[in-house]
Amino acid sequence: MDKKELMEIAKKASVNAYAPFSNFKLGAALETESGKVFTGVNVENSSYGLTNCAERTAIFKAVSEGERKFKRLVIYVDSDKLFPPCGACRQVISEFSNDLPIIIFSNKDVVETNINELLPMSFQLDT
Ligand code: THU
Repeated sequence: MDKKELMEIAKKASVNAYAPFSNFKLGAALETESGKVFTGVNVENSSYGLTNCAERTAIFKAVSEGERKFKRLVIYVDSDKLFPPCGACRQVISEFSNDLPIIIFSNKDVVETNINELLPMSFQLDT
C-alpha cells in the first residue's frame, strides 16, 4: 500500500482514541504482509496504568485475527510534536519483527525508522 494512504488511515483512526485523561490522541495503522491493515488507538482508563497504547492495540487486533507477519507500522499523534513509541510497545513490536519499518508523524513532522533502530538488542526467548 502507498505510504501516504497508510498515513491517512492512521490519522483517521486517531479520532477514535479514548484519551480523556491525557488528551493525546494517537492512531496506528499496521499493514500486514497479506495486504490487510489493522488500525489501533490509545485506550485510557481511570486506573491509569491499564491504558493501552495505539501501537499495541493495532498489533493485538492483528494477532488475534491470525496475522503475525507485518510490513509496515504507521503511528500518528494529533500534536505538533513527534511521539515515538514507548518502551512497552517497542518490545511488543520486536516480538514479531526485528526489522519492521515504522513511520512516526505528527501535524508538523515525520520520521521514518525501524524497530531495530528503536530497540536494538531486544530481549527474545529462543523458541
Ligand atoms: N501512548 C500511545 O498510544 N503510544 C505510545 O507509544 C506512548 C503513549 C498513549 C498512552 C496514553 O493514552 C497517552 O499516549 C499519553 O501517555
